[in-house]
Amino acid sequence: MTDRLYFRQLLSGRDFAADDVIAQQMRNFSYLIGDRETGDCVVVDPAYAAGELVDALEADGMHLSGVLVTHHHPDHVGGSMMGFELKGLAELLERTSVPVHVNSHEADWVSRVTGIAGSELTAHEHGDVVRIGAIDIELLHTPGHTPGSQCFLLDGRLVAGDTLFLEGCGRTDFPGGNVDDMFRSLQALAQLSGDPTVFPGHWYSQEPSASLSEVRQTNYVYRASSLDQWRMLMGG
Ligand SMILES: [Fe+2]
Repeated sequence: MTDRLYFRQLLSGRDFAADDVIAQQMRNFSYLIGDRETGDCVVVDPAYAAGELVDALEADGMHLSGVLVTHHHPDHVGGSMMGFELKGLAELLERTSVPVHVNSHEADWVSRVTGIAGSELTAHEHGDVVRIGAIDIELLHTPGHTPGSQCFLLDGRLVAGDTLFLEGCGRTDFPGGNVDDMFRSLQALAQLSGDPTVFPGHWYSQEPSASLSEVRQTNYVYRASSLDQWRMLMGG
């Protein structure tokens, strides 16, 4: 499986959208996940110059066959943020029409922020598997940062969106955020077997990725072992 896996981590403002000041400041990671043998490939969280992400995978001999969305925030899918109009998913779909995989609890939010009709989104439940060539990607519903945040588990890798960073976790004070849900989601991720490598949605740490066991030891979000401790840690 590992031989066939195509996996790239691309940093906004450096690897794509290099001249975009917001992309540079936000330090978002997008991911390309595909099957080298069939050439099928998905983009995780296309924002800013989304077309450049497609250019990158095509330059590697892959073709776009879908989009995976961790959550609806404009720095992950495009849309209006802090008075700026970010490009993203909508521009990508104009170029190539492909399935967009979202969690069912996030579909309305993604539709609202991107202007993409709900009928164009493929809504999923926790545990669903999206197969790209021979690569199985398991979708994990991890609410807290947003109601339908999801992480992706594949071949020893956890693409964690804004649920889990290497240091800290996504904020819970935006609309739809929930402190208690975040605790439960982080605990569920901590219990994943096989010690996957965590690939976060932003580069907010020294390293761009780290093993889950290392994150469990070093990330302050895992200092709380009960919901009460967690609420205190989060200032609730
Ligand atoms: Fe976010």
